[in-house]
Amino acid sequence: MKNDIKKILLSEKDIAKMIKRLGKAISEDYKDKNLMIVSILKGSVVTMADLMRAITIPCVIDFMVVSSYGSGTQTSGSVKIIKDLDVDIRDYDLLIVEDILDSGVTLSNLLEMLSSREPASIKICTLLDKPERRKVDIKPDYVGATVPDEFIVGYGLDYAEKYRNLPYIGVLKEEAILG
Ligand code: IMP
Ligand code: MG
Repeated sequence: MKNDIKKILLSEKDIAKMIKRLGKAISEDYKDKNLMIVSILKGSVVTMADLMRAITIPCVIDFMVVSSYGSGTQTSGSVKIIKDLDVDIRDYDLLIVEDILDSGVTLSNLLEMLSSREPASIKICTLLDKPERRKVDIKPDYVGATVPDEFIVGYGLDYAEKYRNLPYIGVLKEEAILG
């Protein structure tokens, strides 16, 4: 698995620092709110697990499964809800946790859909932001790190469902993508 990585973009240490900073900011901003963190599976599962433990205020969690990508590296442009939230969100301040904001198509569709359910507020926390690739006007409220326009894997991020269990974030070798 390691041999398929061209270079490490963010080490385990880098990520731990990012998570700590995000957790602190979120805990301060939401101290008088009714926080629900929503992890968009599967990519954000590792971020979620670490981030929720870096948040020091009471909160509830939930998960959604949406699909926009197949097994390749191109977006299909539409979002399908495969697993919805368990409860009514009207009383909650929603914070959506994503692994990476790329074209933004997935999140903007999701945001529109969730906003129509009238939560108290709704914001986005993304571990990684790839602003060069943006196709729609969407800005994350919390960002771990900005990354260049390269296909990256690890710490939850996959290529054809693999590499999610790498503890760091790295750029995949071209051979690994083609092969
Ligand atoms: P968007 O709709 O293009 O913003 O899609 C975002 C989703 O695409 C993320 O949640 C990831 O699952 C996936 N994605 C985008 N860029 C990458 C990447 O570089 N590596 C792995 N997955 C990616
Ligand atoms: Mg994904």
